[in-house]
This record gives sequence, structure tokens and C-alpha cells, in this order.
Amino acid sequence: MFAAQTIDSTNKPAFYRELATQLKALLEGESDSVANAANTSALIFQMVPDLNWAGFYFLASDEELVLGPFQGKPACVRIAVGKGVCGTAIDLEMSMLVKDVHEFAGHIACDADSRSELVVLLRDNDGVFGLIDLDSPAPGRFDKDDQAGIEALAAIYVAASSFED
Ligand code: SME
Repeated sequence: MFAAQTIDSTNKPAFYRELATQLKALLEGESDSVANAANTSALIFQMVPDLNWAGFYFLASDEELVLGPFQGKPACVRIAVGKGVCGTAIDLEMSMLVKDVHEFAGHIACDADSRSELVVLLRDNDGVFGLIDLDSPAPGRFDKDDQAGIEALAAIYVAASSFED
């Protein structure tokens, strides 16, 4: 049985290095992309402080994201590319660090408690195919250390998982 170990989160780079080690252990020997997304979102939600939502969206076509495994309240199922924080991340092909979602024109509020948001992309050799989205009820919750840390977790998820049809 995998048991996540509590990590001191005061030093963010060290926290994310340890979380990356735990995620590798959690996904070891499993390549199912849905199961791995489910466990990745569960580990992030359990371990990263001050979140109200953590999960995946995958591109169903060039125009639309569809909800994947997540932790938190039920969320918007489909997001058009170019819309909201998630659709904008895909459109611009870059991570999005939103300090205050009320200041982001077009933010899609799945949970009214959300005040800040971090979106990082999932990429393989064929390009971007989805994203990990984190929401927090705290304004300004995420910084560049969180972005780098979650990007590293996204890369571990992609490397561990098979996306063959
Ligand atoms: N806030 C996102 C929508 C997804 S939820 O936060 C889970 C957005 O603006 O794209």
C-alpha cells in the first residue's frame, strides 16, 4: 500500500522535489493514463496545502478540453480552447499563473471559492495534449516555485503513462 508521507512545505523547491519522489513511487509499474491521472490528482490534493480543486483536462479535439480525473467539487466538463484559464493555457501553449481569478477576464468559475489558479500543460513528442489545473481559495496562493514543481509532476505523469488508443 502506498502511504503519502507528510512533507514540510516551508521550502517549496524541497517540498516539490520530495513530492516528485513520492509521485514516481506511486506511479511505479503502472501505465494506465486514467488511473495515473486519478492518483496524481489525489496525491497533489492531499499534499499541496490550501487547494480546493486539483485535476486534469484532456484535449478531445483541437477545439475542446474535456474533464479528466480530479479531486474537489464537480467541475465544468467541457472548456473551449481559448476560453477560461485552461483554454487560454492551451491556446498560448504556456503555463498560467493567475494570482486573482477575479482579475482574469473570462475566468470560468467552477467553484465560487476559487481565488487563484495554476495551470500547467501536459506534453509529449506530439505536442500539448492536456493540462493539470489547481485552484485555491487563497488569493496569490501560487508562485513560480509552485509552477516549476507542478510542471515537474506533470512530466512524471506523462513519462509514466501510456496514451496509446
Ligand atoms: N477555472 C478554470 C475552469 C476549470 S475549474 O477551475 C476546475 C478556467 O477558467 O478555465
